[in-house]
Amino acid sequence: MNTSRACSEVWVEGISAYLPHHYLCHDDLAVRTGTDPEKYARGLGCTSMAVLHPMQDSVTMAAEAGLSLLTSYGVDPASVGQLIVGTESGVDWAKPVAAYVHEMIGLSPRCRTYDVQHACYGASAALSSVGAWIASGMAAGRKALVIATDVARYDDGSPGEATQGAGAVAMLVGDSHTGVLRPDLGMEAVYSSQVMDFWRPGHRSTAVVKGKYSINCYLAALAQTYQVHREAGGEGIDELDYLLFHLPFPRMSEKALGKLMEAECGQVDEETFSKVLREKVNPGVEAARIVGNIYSGSLYLALASLLENRGARCTGRRVGLFSYGSGCCAEFFTATIGDSNECWKGRTGVERTSTSSTRIGVETYAAFRRETSRLNSDDSFKLGHMPCADSVPPDARYVYLGYRNQKRVYAPGPAGRIARVGSQVGRVSRSVPQPVGPTT
Ligand code: COA
Repeated sequence: MNTSRACSEVWVEGISAYLPHHYLCHDDLAVRTGTDPEKYARGLGCTSMAVLHPMQDSVTMAAEAGLSLLTSYGVDPASVGQLIVGTESGVDWAKPVAAYVHEMIGLSPRCRTYDVQHACYGASAALSSVGAWIASGMAAGRKALVIATDVARYDDGSPGEATQGAGAVAMLVGDSHTGVLRPDLGMEAVYSSQVMDFWRPGHRSTAVVKGKYSINCYLAALAQTYQVHREAGGEGIDELDYLLFHLPFPRMSEKALGKLMEAECGQVDEETFSKVLREKVNPGVEAARIVGNIYSGSLYLALASLLENRGARCTGRRVGLFSYGSGCCAEFFTATIGDSNECWKGRTGVERTSTSSTRIGVETYAAFRRETSRLNSDDSFKLGHMPCADSVPPDARYVYLGYRNQKRVYAPGPAGRIARVGSQVGRVSRSVPQPVGPTT
């Protein structure tokens, strides 16, 4: 092993998102739920939501994001010393998502793997942890991979249904003094409080949320962390070039900015508010308008959205980031964006998704929901019986086939010719995927 080398700079060296192939327009959902479409468009700020195919899950999305990142940034898998998955959509009470992903993306056995769960805050906790690992010198030149992966799912017809989404964001963290983002180490302002604003009991596949209370908890945590940040000498809104927020729904960004401006200057005049919203906040919100809430990856999707939207214009700029996980734990931190857009151009995954997605109607959406429930029930694996197999996304390198003997069965997807499961490499037909890995 290399000798220890403490460092003062830790970088998010690369970022890559995997977002579902299918989406449902809110205008279609509005017809199904009998809601005024303006509520979704103006009240929540969303136009569509990503819908995950039943043969994909938090594991396959994390693997897709991780593989894209390793490939597009040319990372040697052997250089990754930690893989931490931030998720509240785990597939097992004991076995972490990270264990599956570790194999699917071909990392070394000498890599620590675990999940972090704290609602939408998990990936931020993971980033903070690997930042300390690298800064201390214990990483000894190795990199860390943090992957946020979640499926936001609410009851049929509930207010939360319109805020659903799914996606994974992978980030490579290291000490190479270049990359996408350099967080200000040790400057994070954190806040925790035991509140019941949003949760998912172990027997449920959908979340329970007290919507308005949750918004208030979020805003209270934002005010608390921002105050600590300012008292410690952190920059104010005027000095920061961009502000990125965790987004349970896109219009939350307006409420969050309002809270910060109120804390900064008391009364907020409408013209200044609109200008700051347009210039500093909206570039990070665009992806959420079409994808929806992706829980622990939401803040980092906002980062990817900003990078895609602003390109070279955001190089070297200062950014404030707010992470919130219900329950709750929150963090406000600042960072500098890398000085070359070559570090992310064409690699974030956001542009690819918005150009190659497939719109589905409410019937397909309902069928996907039913099939997801079926596939996640005991003994659901039946080779050759996959009603949704023909609609598997063409870019899927892995698919989920159901439970057999209490074990989840995964197989290479249509793009599986470049996917690896352990030592196996292969392509399978779209209609009859063959299982791989230790499934018996
Ligand atoms: N035209 C325009 N706007 C409309 C409208 C219409 N016809 N009907 C309603 N609206 C507006 C409301 O005025 C409201 O805006 P406001 O927040 O500025 O007051 C907004 O749309 C939402 O309407 P509301 O009646 O408050 O919605 P709801 O009770 O159905 O709940 C959420 C909405 C977002 C709270 C709910 O979807 C939810 O619980 N989401 C999940 C929150 C979450 O994930 N929290 C986790 C931690 S962050």
